[in-house]
Amino acid sequence: MADYAILPDQPVASLDAYMAEGGGAGLARAIEEGGEAVLATLKAAHLRGRGGAGFPTAIKWRSVRDAAAEGDHPSYVVCNAAEGEPGTYKDRPLIAHNPFRLVEGVLIAAQVVGASRSYIGTKAKFTHEVQRLISARDEAIAAGWPGAERLGIVTGPDDYLFGEEKALLETVEGKEPMPRILPPFQVGLFATMASPNPTVVNNVETLSHAARIVGEGPEPFRANGTEASPGTMVFTVVGDVERPGFYELPLGVTLRELVVDIAGATDPKAILSGTSNPVGTPEHLDVPLCFDALRHAGFGLGSGGFVIYGQHRDMVQVTERLGAFLAAESCGQCMACKLGTGAMAERLERLVSGGGTQDDLHEIIKRTEYVSDQSRCFLPMGAALTVRSMVDTFPDDFAACAAGQASDPDVAVPIPKITGIDETTGEVIWDPTTRESPKAEPT
Ligand SMILES: Cc1cc2nc3c(=O)[nH]c(=O)nc-3n(C[C@H](O)[C@H](O)[C@H](O)COP(=O)(O)O)c2cc1C
Ligand code: SF4
Repeated sequence: MADYAILPDQPVASLDAYMAEGGGAGLARAIEEGGEAVLATLKAAHLRGRGGAGFPTAIKWRSVRDAAAEGDHPSYVVCNAAEGEPGTYKDRPLIAHNPFRLVEGVLIAAQVVGASRSYIGTKAKFTHEVQRLISARDEAIAAGWPGAERLGIVTGPDDYLFGEEKALLETVEGKEPMPRILPPFQVGLFATMASPNPTVVNNVETLSHAARIVGEGPEPFRANGTEASPGTMVFTVVGDVERPGFYELPLGVTLRELVVDIAGATDPKAILSGTSNPVGTPEHLDVPLCFDALRHAGFGLGSGGFVIYGQHRDMVQVTERLGAFLAAESCGQCMACKLGTGAMAERLERLVSGGGTQDDLHEIIKRTEYVSDQSRCFLPMGAALTVRSMVDTFPDDFAACAAGQASDPDVAVPIPKITGIDETTGEVIWDPTTRESPKAEPT
């Protein structure tokens, strides 16, 4: 565990308990000193988004604040609590353990951009976390926290795309999670031709960090991590490891410290970082866990969720599960994505079943080259990166299946969507469900 942590060991029971430990100082400071002071603090901290791309939070908030002020438009803040990335389970523990810090982070962002309203969008199926959020919001209203009475908790469907920021806005508006074309700072919530309503979208962990940074100043945060990727991150490690779980560590520790020393991987063959990055291998174990170092090494930090596959696994079967997930989650607005992910999934299934040929392998490779053409969102780019890197990194596994050999069902793995991780035993519960699409329901 890091000295500096945003994930408490034990759940914080009430707003009073949170405030007794110094909670609320960030919001008080934002109100007292104003948006420019908050932005200067976040910039000095160099907080980067924890939802996948590592985008600097101060720049995001600044662009929305300035765009709203310049055009005299309404603005909004939406917290992305959809947590749908395969292998990731950190936003739910953060909410379950301390929803008050997240509420504070949302309200600080709302103060900075002058938001008309703010929302936390999460999945209806995360029932415990939804209850914690509603209670925390209601306690904040009772305590008179500014903006809390204009904070909505929105529940949405299980779709992977619910977490894509442009689809998240659609869902908050009560529509299906289908990504729009333009990003939230250009076309925000309830936007019209006359009013673009620039909107901040941030991940749960990002906003939780922001609350603490604004309350304490940038130094304690910057005392952890690296120059370019400061602070801590809540990592998830599941799969073929002895101690699966979620662990908050300073950025800059090596992948080996997390995956081998802490989580207990003994014979990793592949390391999956969500479905938006190339696959990692044991060669990446000594790379520091920071956004740029991992990207330069041909891997990726993503949202800090790692799925470990041991030497005994068949990488064609692993890829087939990922391909099936991405094809099912593609919404069909962009032809190359829908047809490409579908074709890849079909061919991968054939390879795994023992009916595969070289033609299947060639078609999969070809599809990775244009599946993301003219796409509205990053899903197919993730499919291209993940599938292509699997084929390139594990040629023997793919050659065997292309020669008609079936994958061994005894080493089969599930789609790595996580329903829960038992905090005492470390047992991982995989999500066996397929997609359902109930409409969003504001609470
Ligand atoms: C298909 C897809 C699914 C995503 N799912 C999530 C998610 O569940 N949670 C999340 O915070 N970001 C998710 N993202 C990233 C968001 O679009 C967005 O970049 C993020 O919420 C920004 O927050 P940050 O700046 O705090 O990192 C997803 C992106 C894509 C393309
Ligand atoms: S790229 Fe794919 S998932 Fe994204 S909007 Fe287009 S069809 Fe939907």
